[in-house]
Amino acid sequence: MSIFGVASTALADAQVERGRYLVEVIGACGNCHTPMGPEGPDTSRHLAGGMVIDMDVFRAVPANITPDPETGIGAWSDVEIARAIREGVRPDGSLIGPPMPYPLYHGIADDDLMAIVAYLRTVPPVVNETEPSVYNIPLPPAWTDPIASVPAPDPSDQVAYGAYLAGPVGHCVECHTPMGEHGHPDFEHRLGAGGFEFPGPWGVSVAANITPTGLGDWSDAEIARAIREGVSRDDRPLMPPMAFAYYKGISEPDMAAIIAYLRSLPPME
Ligand code: HEC
Ligand code: HEC
Repeated sequence: MSIFGVASTALADAQVERGRYLVEVIGACGNCHTPMGPEGPDTSRHLAGGMVIDMDVFRAVPANITPDPETGIGAWSDVEIARAIREGVRPDGSLIGPPMPYPLYHGIADDDLMAIVAYLRTVPPVVNETEPSVYNIPLPPAWTDPIASVPAPDPSDQVAYGAYLAGPVGHCVECHTPMGEHGHPDFEHRLGAGGFEFPGPWGVSVAANITPTGLGDWSDAEIARAIREGVSRDDRPLMPPMAFAYYKGISEPDMAAIIAYLRSLPPME
């Protein structure tokens, strides 16, 4: 019995640690869900929402996803939180809008989804009531049918695993693909082509072409440096909202898989 107790504690720790990596590193949830202060992400409001994302098609306000029961998601069950992340629906049945990256999050594997939920339960609760988002585009009645199960990708298939990291988990292709209908990117025709403009305090940054048309001449080390350190090939510092502050923790095997995937993309002008 005691051996079982030790083993299950270790398992629970491993699950929370995996969730931390998914939320704080590769998933960069805080890039939207943590408000920005003058010095970067406001750590006193970590994951507490409230930063306004103002575009023509919407004025979206990422929610408080800390465990505060009143203003966050502390009163939701594990399954309710999981459905919110993967299916884009709240416990009351209302739809969660863009730019929360649903078309990608539908593909988060079951184990990773539950790891994300387990980790979110451990972050400090922050009281922060966020204002509602406003959408000037029609939202569909639902993003998807209920998703029963998504199997974990096979880490030994490097390109497929990289596609999982750059897609469902890391949503790299969300920013690096131009927008189609419903305020979501056009993955079918323009995957990785870049060109989407992000106005902000930094001026206007333009998402780069990350297909071989854009990165074909780059070495692996140059691509890794751009992602982890935010420095382009010509030593130019890259601008937000690319989530360098989070990506610096991407592990070696995961970085290798992401690069293998980027190199496998169909070239796009
Ligand atoms: C590109 C920005 C963006 C990213 C990245 C993002 N979110 Fe969101 N998220 C949003 C926005 C915007 C909303 C609110 C949409 C609305 O008001 O309908 C939201 C809503 C939510 C909600 C619903 C909460 C509520 O009270 O309604 C949950 C849960 C959530 N996000 C979890 C996550 C997790 C976990 C991650 C990382 C794996 C993540 N989000 C990454 C933008 C983002
Ligand atoms: C929130 C939006 C966003 C996300 C998410 C994002 N990027 Fe970017 N990325 C950008 C923007 C914008 C630029 C251009 C910045 C500039 O030119 O100053 C960029 C630049 C880059 C560059 C440098 C290209 C060059 O020509 O200098 C690479 C490589 C890159 N991103 C890869 C990735 C990968 C891989 C991921 C996922 C792990 C990712 N990006 C996630 C917005 C994003």
